[in-house]
Amino acid sequence: MDPKAILAKMTLVEKIRLCSGKDAWQTEDFPHLDIPSIRFSDGPHGVRKTSGKEDHLGLFESEKAVAFPTASLSACSWDVDLLYEMGQALGEECLALNVDVLLGPGVNMKRSPLCGRNFEYFSEDPVLAGNLAAAWIHGVQSKEIGASLKHFAANNQETNRMTSSSNIDDRALHDLYLRPFEIAIKQANPWTVMCSYNRINGVSSSKNAWLLSDTLKSVWNYDGAVISDWGAGHDRSEDIAAGMDLEMPGNQQYYLSSVVKAIQTGKLSEARLNESALRMLKLIQKCVDKENTHSSYDIDTHRLLARKIAQSSIVLLKNDTQLLPLNLNEPILVIGELAKIPRYQGSGSSRIRPHRVESLLDGLDEAKIQYTYQAGYSIEDLEDFEGIEQAISSILPDQTVIVFVGLTDKYEREGFDRTSMQLPPVHDRLIEAVCAKTKNVVVVLANGAPVSMPWEPNVSSILEGYLPGEAGGPALVDVLYGKVNPSGKLAESFPIDDEAVVCFPHFGIERNQVNYRESIFTGYRYFDANPHLVRFPFGHGLSYSTFRYSNLQRNEMSISFDLTNLGPYAGSEIVQLYIQNPSRSDFFPRQELKRFAKVNLNVNETRNVTFTLNEEDFRYYSNKHKRSRIVAGEYDIRISASSTDIRFRLKLHVDGERDDVTENNPKSWYDDPIGKPREIDFERLTGKPIPKEISTSKGSFTLDSTFDEMRDTWIGRRMLKAVDKMLCDAVKKPRAEIDDDAFEVMRSFSLTTPLRNLILMSNGSFKESLATGIVHLANGKGVQALISFLKKK
Ligand code: BGC
Repeated sequence: MDPKAILAKMTLVEKIRLCSGKDAWQTEDFPHLDIPSIRFSDGPHGVRKTSGKEDHLGLFESEKAVAFPTASLSACSWDVDLLYEMGQALGEECLALNVDVLLGPGVNMKRSPLCGRNFEYFSEDPVLAGNLAAAWIHGVQSKEIGASLKHFAANNQETNRMTSSSNIDDRALHDLYLRPFEIAIKQANPWTVMCSYNRINGVSSSKNAWLLSDTLKSVWNYDGAVISDWGAGHDRSEDIAAGMDLEMPGNQQYYLSSVVKAIQTGKLSEARLNESALRMLKLIQKCVDKENTHSSYDIDTHRLLARKIAQSSIVLLKNDTQLLPLNLNEPILVIGELAKIPRYQGSGSSRIRPHRVESLLDGLDEAKIQYTYQAGYSIEDLEDFEGIEQAISSILPDQTVIVFVGLTDKYEREGFDRTSMQLPPVHDRLIEAVCAKTKNVVVVLANGAPVSMPWEPNVSSILEGYLPGEAGGPALVDVLYGKVNPSGKLAESFPIDDEAVVCFPHFGIERNQVNYRESIFTGYRYFDANPHLVRFPFGHGLSYSTFRYSNLQRNEMSISFDLTNLGPYAGSEIVQLYIQNPSRSDFFPRQELKRFAKVNLNVNETRNVTFTLNEEDFRYYSNKHKRSRIVAGEYDIRISASSTDIRFRLKLHVDGERDDVTENNPKSWYDDPIGKPREIDFERLTGKPIPKEISTSKGSFTLDSTFDEMRDTWIGRRMLKAVDKMLCDAVKKPRAEIDDDAFEVMRSFSLTTPLRNLILMSNGSFKESLATGIVHLANGKGVQALISFLKKK
């Protein structure tokens, strides 16, 4: 296939159609030009290929695939080789299922632990997220399957994700929110990048020329195709002009004539369209010119890999009395229904149909370990506290008890944010009741994001399993009983409670203007200045072994040291290198992660670890200079076992621009980020007043409004009910027979998507005239509504 030669043969209309999907998952095909369709599928922790009826949020069943641990867990491996292997396995499953491009990985930063989709993202740190994503992409693409790096950019919450604007100062935008994308793109060149739903500083990502053309394509030299998140497209001419190459899913050429007109009138240049069409043809070429043709994959091998990833990622948060590893001969009591009915993946577009899910109890059975089990609570009814009494009455004096708690799908899912980090109250109460009966308590957690742990001081051991995939149960047993020495470390901070999180007072509350008042101070960048607010710091994770760091050496930009496993088990240690910028003319976090490595060691084995820094590691974006720069000075370098466990410190001189300190540099919250920033701090930082919320009341509705925003109007209330009915009709089932979770995700999507985007996604069934009529009714304009309804278009 010769993309340039084919492009030359295409008509204007064909080029426009090539840049808009054919249906929910495929691109248009043009047999007379030998251009086939290519197929996308979600990702990112398994292949979600739907067959038959197609939707993108889990309402319809998909084909079976291995459920790997979600990104929140696999990130805790800090192991790029393992992420590469995971990518390879996913690539093989795509080949077997005839999928050309897998929609992942997600590298959005974890700004708040409450984001309902954090389970799909790697970290709060851009260097960790970017490097892990790059390895995953390399793995997938080594099988000649494309990856789609998402969601570009600043999509850090689910509340109003389709309509809100992430208002961010340039410093945080470059150094935090764009950085993981930049790293992954420069290292691994994903075949596609998916633009996000939200706006950034007021401009939608899909028509954001600064983001897509200037930054991504020009400054970063990205040569792949930019695709829209599903339904994120706006006006096709404006989107193409901004550099958004493919709109997904297809819109039945809704905008075809207007794009033709835009080109004829010179509003959109044909050269720009040609460039998008060429990027698409090059993408299709990569998909068709495959040498790999696996038609099947070995399910058991992939399940073993899923188990290995979980084993290497599970984090031992606490083990004060060395209760773990457990003794195989000790009678154990397991309490908690999550041990029997596991939560192993998240919900929404990433939800896949696994081959065989194994619970913790299955893992114990498989390992032939004797145990007794008490449910303690029911996953179906977390308001019911009745089970606690019976569960704790069976505890023998001083018995070791595993209490399995966590979050269910109702707490975390695509389209929703949590309002608190609290576990279901029945879980907290259960742990307290168990602690009152025995001091030997191991808490095992299943959750997509941090939870508050008021009971932490009273329990001996805590194992964080996140959402461990279909082989998660046995992996947890392997770690609990010491068959595997835990080696995962946290890829995000665990705050003490909700209030400890810097953006908590506004998170999920600001409706359509989301102001990132804290700038770069999220996660450990904030907690380092407020250490009493963190329960388990970024980079923390225990082992059953002890590791010694010794013999620090420096040779120019290379720093090396010896790492020894002092035993008593073989194991792995994750070593981390942080730097602190010495500048006094600008604000900086107390430290930033720049390098990391996972090192495997037998007992008494020593290995030399070397990190080599380069000039780019010292670069930052200056709001004042409106560009990136390096400040000359003596940088503080730390070799650490976690963000708070520093083993070595040394100074390193770096050349660069003079640190232009002036005596009257006024100090701001950002120079000493203690407590919470005020509006005035953010206004001074950006030099602009805080943007005002856009009105969503009667009289202000447009096609860019959502049914949710209209919920206080008569028609809005009717539409809330109509959406429920429409979803039931779509699956041809009564509400009671539809999976709760998939229904809620789809419902929220339908209610929070602007009407304009619903028209585009509806395959012609939701007509513009109907949508306009609804808008008029919501604005109280009955006559105009009637006129619209009578139109057929
Ligand atoms: C999600 C994407 C996903 C797409 C297709 C969207 O709603 O945000 O992550 O890839 O749907 O399912």
